[in-house]
Amino acid sequence: MKAVKVLDQISGIDGAAVPKHIAIIMDGNGRWANARGLSRLEGHRQGIAALRRTLEAARTFNIRYLTVWAFSTENWRRPLTEVNGLLALFRHYIKKELVELHQNGINLQFIGRRTDLPADILSMMNHAEQVTKDNSSFYLIIAFNYGGRDDIVRSVKRIAQQVQEGVLLPEDINEELLSIQLSTASVPDPDMMIRTGGETRISNFLLWQLSYAELIFTETYWPDFNKDDLAYAIQEYQKRDRRYGALNS
Ligand code: IPE
Ligand code: IPE
Ligand code: MG
Repeated sequence: MKAVKVLDQISGIDGAAVPKHIAIIMDGNGRWANARGLSRLEGHRQGIAALRRTLEAARTFNIRYLTVWAFSTENWRRPLTEVNGLLALFRHYIKKELVELHQNGINLQFIGRRTDLPADILSMMNHAEQVTKDNSSFYLIIAFNYGGRDDIVRSVKRIAQQVQEGVLLPEDINEELLSIQLSTASVPDPDMMIRTGGETRISNFLLWQLSYAELIFTETYWPDFNKDDLAYAIQEYQKRDRRYGALNS
């Protein structure tokens, strides 16, 4: 109760009604860099600093789950130098942050397609998940090589396999069954989704999981995103009336 009151005073956030899970499309790194005459990669580098800030802020606001989109299944279409730069930054981030994340009791998970990734990145992911698997103070989910349609297709394939093996009947297939085959099986659906960088589209992010998420779009480029922006987004979320198709009195 005390912590909740403190939160109210410092941020204008109702501490008793914070979203449990926030998902973020961290967009605008390239444009942030262009506007400063810097390389796109420098934008991505500053994006990591923004992720660090946002994670810390999310924890002070008592959020439990943060899902961030770092690389999409479509981002392979970018020039090779940028793709390689993003892979290198990902390696750097895990190497540098894992110990501290673990010390802070953070459970780190990755969602997305694992098959197309370099072997060293795969083993880093597995290692990080293994090391932090028993942590439960906060859940950081990094969507890497993630695409919403790809996630659904892979889920459907696993279900089809079970039907073919005779362990499942087509009439047993329901929303719950499909959900637990998605790469987000162990996390609740996001309550809100923030997209930075000014675009107002989903771009194939968590298509299934965002069904009832409150969507918040901001012009702020991701490298500029900070605690105040997060507080503002949560305040905005708290003004929304979540009806789930029903009527609220
Ligand atoms: C988001 O920033 C990061 C990734 C997609 C990897 P962008 O690189 O898309 O930046 P903009 O949208 O071009 O400014
Ligand atoms: C979405 O941003 C992917 C990530 C932030 C990782 P993009 O920049 O790739 O999306 P589009 O191309 O604007 O739709
Ligand atoms: Mg972009």
